[in-house]
Amino acid sequence: MNEKVLEIWPEINLIENSSLREKVLKAWIYAIENSVLTIKDLQTIPFSLLLKDCHITFMNHKRTAVQLSVDIAKRMKENFGDEIQIDMDILIAGAILIDIGKLFEYDKVDGKLTVSKAGKLLRHPFSGVAIADRFNLPPEVLHCIAYHSKEGDLGTRSVEAIIIHHADFVSFEPFKA
Ligand SMILES: [Fe+2]
Repeated sequence: MNEKVLEIWPEINLIENSSLREKVLKAWIYAIENSVLTIKDLQTIPFSLLLKDCHITFMNHKRTAVQLSVDIAKRMKENFGDEIQIDMDILIAGAILIDIGKLFEYDKVDGKLTVSKAGKLLRHPFSGVAIADRFNLPPEVLHCIAYHSKEGDLGTRSVEAIIIHHADFVSFEPFKA
C-alpha cells in the first residue's frame, strides 16, 4: 500500500522530516483502507459532489493545492526573507492532509456516490483532525486541517494555514457554478 499511496501522492516525499513523512503516509493509508473510496476512485471522481459537470478529479484538485502552497511559500520566503517564518514541512504535511476526512464523507449506494451519515454530521475538517491525531501528527498540522476551510474563519490562522487556505480556495472557487 505504501507505494500505491506514494504514487498518487508523490508530494509526501517533499516532507524532509522522516517521522512526519511516515505519519502523513500512514494516515493516508488508514483513510483509504477505511473509506468506500478506492485509490482509483480518488483519481477519477470529481473533487466535489456539489459541483455539476466538474471534470477536475479529487487528486488533481488536492495536488494542485499542495503544489500551489509550496510555490506561494517559496516566493514569500524569497521576497520577504527573515520577515516571515514558514515551516515547509508543516505546510506540506498540512496541505496534504486537509481533505483526508473527505474519505469518510462518502458512501456508495447501488454503486453511486452519496454523502455518508458521518459526512453529514462531521465535515471533513473535524474528521480530518480525528484521523491525523490517531497518528500523532503535531498540533501545527492539526491546526492546518481544522482551519483550512470556512470553519477556520472564526479563529486566527497560522501563516502555514493562511497559505494552504488560499491555495485550496483558488483550486476550488473558479469551478463553482
Ligand atoms: Fe477541504
